[in-house]
Amino acid sequence: MDKLIEYDAQNQIFHLHNHDVSYLLSVEEGNVLAHLYFGAAVRHYHGQLRYPRADRGFSGNLPGSLDRTYSLDTLPREISCAGELDYHEPAVIVRQANGSNSLALRYQDYQIIDGKPQLPGLPAAFVEDDTEAQTLIIKMQDQLTGVAAELWYTVYRDQPIITRTCRLINQGSAKVNLEKLASMQLDFTGHANLESITLPGAYADERQMERRPLQHGVTEFRSRRGTSSHQMNPFIALVEPTTNEQRGDAYGMMLVYSGNHQISVEKDQNDQVRLLMGINDANFNWQLLPGQSFQAPEVVMTYSDEGLNGMSQNLHHLIQERIIRSKFKHQERPIVVNNWEATYFDFDESKLQPIVDEAQAMGIEMFVLDDGWFGHRDDDNSSLGDWQVYQKKFPHGLAHFADYVHAKGLKFGIWFEPEMISFDSQLYRAHPDWLMRVPDRQPSPSRNQYVLDLTRKDVRDNLVTQISAILQNNQIDYVKWDMNRSLSDIYSLELPADRQGEVYHRYVLGLYDLMERITQAFPDILFEGCSGGGGRFDAGIAYYMPQIWPSDNTDAIARLKIQYGTSLIYPISMTTAHVSVIPNQQTGRQTPFATRGAVAMSGVFGYELDLTKLTDDEKQQVKRQVAKYKAIRPLVQYGHFYRLKSPFEGNQAAWMFIDDKRSEAIVMTFNVLTNAANRLTRTVLVGLDPQKDYEELMTHQVYGGDELMKLGFYDPLVHQDFTAKLYHFKVRQ
Ligand code: DGJ
Repeated sequence: MDKLIEYDAQNQIFHLHNHDVSYLLSVEEGNVLAHLYFGAAVRHYHGQLRYPRADRGFSGNLPGSLDRTYSLDTLPREISCAGELDYHEPAVIVRQANGSNSLALRYQDYQIIDGKPQLPGLPAAFVEDDTEAQTLIIKMQDQLTGVAAELWYTVYRDQPIITRTCRLINQGSAKVNLEKLASMQLDFTGHANLESITLPGAYADERQMERRPLQHGVTEFRSRRGTSSHQMNPFIALVEPTTNEQRGDAYGMMLVYSGNHQISVEKDQNDQVRLLMGINDANFNWQLLPGQSFQAPEVVMTYSDEGLNGMSQNLHHLIQERIIRSKFKHQERPIVVNNWEATYFDFDESKLQPIVDEAQAMGIEMFVLDDGWFGHRDDDNSSLGDWQVYQKKFPHGLAHFADYVHAKGLKFGIWFEPEMISFDSQLYRAHPDWLMRVPDRQPSPSRNQYVLDLTRKDVRDNLVTQISAILQNNQIDYVKWDMNRSLSDIYSLELPADRQGEVYHRYVLGLYDLMERITQAFPDILFEGCSGGGGRFDAGIAYYMPQIWPSDNTDAIARLKIQYGTSLIYPISMTTAHVSVIPNQQTGRQTPFATRGAVAMSGVFGYELDLTKLTDDEKQQVKRQVAKYKAIRPLVQYGHFYRLKSPFEGNQAAWMFIDDKRSEAIVMTFNVLTNAANRLTRTVLVGLDPQKDYEELMTHQVYGGDELMKLGFYDPLVHQDFTAKLYHFKVRQ
């Protein structure tokens, strides 16, 4: 097997490489582990980019050394610790018995193994066999305390991907407290003008792309909400100022984690940049007794010189092929109708049946029963935790309704919000100690609900029992797993006072355990993650659930930005999108049916409206949309996705989907507002075969692939707001 990791013992240099990327690190004087390079692949490394030695004022030197030219304050490194003479943000903080947090992790040894070990209890990218990747494990230790660290680097053979994580092990004889552990540190030198691209947002306004030059000082992108959050996705891209969608250097880093995260970027006095990514250290404090260890979640890194689209396609491929595990990962996803925006809580079996009938007539493939089918839930003030069927709404039982849906040839899906509890619930009355609350304090409600203490096994066991019973007894084909608040009142009655700093992370570990148990027990159910829309749209959830609801905002124009931003990292097969009514229930906007269809057809497609209330003309349009989507579904869900025009930069958006063979492409263009004095604009395609001719199937016009990629075509001049156009190209044989 060709080596993916080389070790030059004489110069103590490690080179991880494949066809696309190289990552280089070295052991320097004093056994300090230095970073040399991450970027485009090189065949062989000849020793350059070792950090030049220089005596710089106020950047002191290694303890015991007389060499004034060697400083941890300037050397790019792979891991840094509090208490060292390095004035940047550290990757590791370990508090010791004497009160000190000073640590000096130094290189000890290494190991190279075939394949990629999984992380206990945590989601991570995987391999299907050991020839796909190699892993370098670097062992570091602090002489004084015995605290050790393992830095794990995996390089994939056929993907431009390197994954990193870190494990901290207390090999000393005294208890220590871990106060911070970044999953990775990446130092950049000679990139003074780097810019960051992140995905901040809000509820119903998720993953809004934001690009800015790095400034001196520390910039932090983070979540402290207990979830990966609507407010900041656990991702960062670093790019050069000239990088655009199609060209230029793009480094993309995502954290495979669904809880509090922290991405800090520090540009220092020498214009060097340190990137740290990992669990947020706010209210984090993990006790490590002698012999115990702590595993940080994984970071997936990629590099592309083909701009942001190159970076995104690398991440899409990795997530699609080596993070998502579900048996549905390559299957065409059903077209759904979901009753949430159609009925909210106001439904019963007899009201839903006509929607199912209409769905069948229109070719829709699955009915999803959303919130309100359990306990005595008529609004969002009760019943969370009571996963028993609401008799009033389903007098003949849920299986009766599931049978009805199945008899119509549709699949049947159902909504849960497993992590929550209402005060007005049997579960609360039986177990008032099962929610997270600080002793003697009133917990804070949000949507009038509270968070179950998932750090507790008895709580998780109860949920597995209740949810399994519903799934077993009602022929469920699909589950939407929702989560409708941020965490607060962080406290677990099961943990002692000095270990409450573990609760945030233990909640996430508990959640992963719960998801693992339920998804593994029901492998034939298609699971969809959700958190009030896109509050937990991350690669951690993707490990358990192959698709996620990106936003509660179903407005097509708002979705242009949400879906564009989401596509920076996550594959289309993960991103669900539904047509809803006008005026839109979140924005009041009136968008043409065709535009709503085109935006929703750019993801995993469905409807979220009362089909019985549509006009005849709209019903015909639904039928046509459903038929069209079925024809293009494999291409949309599993083709290569390219962003062409950013809605963050102007009045238009455009994107395209193309198959592996470059023989078929769908192009969607969108014009937001019209203008009396319309200027001509063009859409220029990418990724086609320049040597081939393509026919547009609507107009039968034939174009050369080279023409479409150089000249492009004019966008239509429209005198209407919120328009969309769908082009379907096929290679002419
Ligand atoms: C939030 C979800 O994002 C919605 O789609 C819907 O399921 C509601 N929760 C139900 O409470």
